[in-house]
Amino acid sequence: MPSPAALLAWYDRNRRRMPWRTLPGETPDPYRVWLSEIMLQQTTVTAVIPYFERFLTLFPTVETLAAADETRVMAAWAGLGYYARARNLHACAREIANLGGKFPTDIETLRALPGIGPYTANAVAAIAFNQPVIPVDGNVERIAARLFAIETPLPAARPALAKAAATLNHTPESHHRAADFAQALFDLGATICTPRPLCALCPWSPHCAAHRAGIADQLPRRAPKKTRPTRHGAHFWLQDSSGQVLLRRRPPSGLLGGMTELPGTDWRATPFPAQEAHRLAPMPAAWRHRGKVHHVFTHFELHLDVYAATVPAIAATGFLRPAAALHGEALPSVMRKCVAVARQEPA
Ligand code: ADE
Repeated sequence: MPSPAALLAWYDRNRRRMPWRTLPGETPDPYRVWLSEIMLQQTTVTAVIPYFERFLTLFPTVETLAAADETRVMAAWAGLGYYARARNLHACAREIANLGGKFPTDIETLRALPGIGPYTANAVAAIAFNQPVIPVDGNVERIAARLFAIETPLPAARPALAKAAATLNHTPESHHRAADFAQALFDLGATICTPRPLCALCPWSPHCAAHRAGIADQLPRRAPKKTRPTRHGAHFWLQDSSGQVLLRRRPPSGLLGGMTELPGTDWRATPFPAQEAHRLAPMPAAWRHRGKVHHVFTHFELHLDVYAATVPAIAATGFLRPAAALHGEALPSVMRKCVAVARQEPA
């Protein structure tokens, strides 16, 4: 069995510093732990850091986040993707503010909160409250698959990997360092037990079944990926002679719910021929094709045609913003790309 002490000794020498982490001896702030864990789902550490810092400046406590206007929260999130996370984050902050601003410490109560699933409940319980539970993310799945040479492909292997991972913190001494143990697993997965592993540097390689069998770099196995479907659409940059641009808000639920966009067509399986796109534009105008945008969402790939026109006065539903101030507008990444193409700037 891999020794928890060996991992913790490795972590004491190699821990990564991150703005949401405490130094040894400091008490973690559950708000910072929770916020970072929500942001880190589906997003890299590098991408999260500036958002995390900005959120803490804007909303230094769970009460300030709870009291904030939803549009301010969504604007601070814009660009991080998976916008349901931001809406759940805000709903969760309000529930916690109603509990007097104190995060619950037990897993079941944490899991009942909006946006908190098994992973986040375990991460908050382990990192903020030092409970000996293991948050199982992709890194931890990879470590468990290798240590125990679990060859079942993902995603079917997920329950077995979680069960195996749950056995890793198994001594009284490491139970006392549950927060460090969880973060040590993240760091091991991010720096050593990477998809192309550096087993020579790993504190656990002597106890790793996959390393002994010479198959560490082949695990975890994955079922063949389904190809993502492709969708097509067209979006329109409509500017008036005073330099105002037409924007609109997406419906509150669904993909990019509530986010701002350039007006556009539905996104469908077949491309929009230019004539059809022009008919679906917000108003008749001399539409010029400015280029294409490609964007990958989790469940489909999107190909957009971007059209632009200037008219004396805009007569269409939506709201107007000065073109020169659009960088200050909270746009999702796909719409930033459309704006860059419409203006023929680098994205
Ligand atoms: N990934 C998810 N949570 C993390 C954390 N707390 N530190 C580093 N990487 C992580």
